[in-house]
Amino acid sequence: MPRRRKHFRQTSVINPSALGVDRTIVLVGLMGVGKTTVGRRLAKKLGMDFVDSDHEIEKAADMTISEIFEEYGEEDFRAGERRVISRLLDGTPQVIATGGGAFINQETRRMIKDKGLSIWLDADIDTLVERTGRRDTRPLLKQGDPKEILTKLANERSPLYDKADLKVMSGAGPHETVVDNILKALNDREVR
Ligand code: S3P
Repeated sequence: MPRRRKHFRQTSVINPSALGVDRTIVLVGLMGVGKTTVGRRLAKKLGMDFVDSDHEIEKAADMTISEIFEEYGEEDFRAGERRVISRLLDGTPQVIATGGGAFINQETRRMIKDKGLSIWLDADIDTLVERTGRRDTRPLLKQGDPKEILTKLANERSPLYDKADLKVMSGAGPHETVVDNILKALNDREVR
């Protein structure tokens, strides 16, 4: 009887420079699009560190995003977000998942465009509604019907997300497929 070969998951790391990546990759896009999950897996594939800007803001403030919105309001949150992202962009190249409004803020967007390689993850509204419905941590979605809010935000924000360097769809399928599509988009992109 021939012995069965053991199955190993493919864990080989791709060198970012082989894809022309020499700077921090910044994932932007609406709430629920999968920036954190996809970002973490992408970073692992590229042997880079991963950081979530919302998580860094919560650590710095020692408060949750909801508490910051409640106590200080959105404007102060955006200022904190800008400071945190600025610090993250100045470090060693890594993968950053940003909060959905970060790239909408003009100053934050300018910093990301200057120092990072931005990727817009996009998905249809029903996927976003389904994914954001799993947790109750997003203050903007508590202000009314989540589907209506997400639709309005998608309409308002898409022209700005579209300023990202690349766009990749993040549909209802497995996140691993999205990661593969990002790697493909990076590989296929024209060097500017
Ligand atoms: C926001 C998105 C959230 C968080 C905050 C505001 C937005 O991040 O930063 O609740 O304005 O879209 P996620 O996109 O990670 O949910």
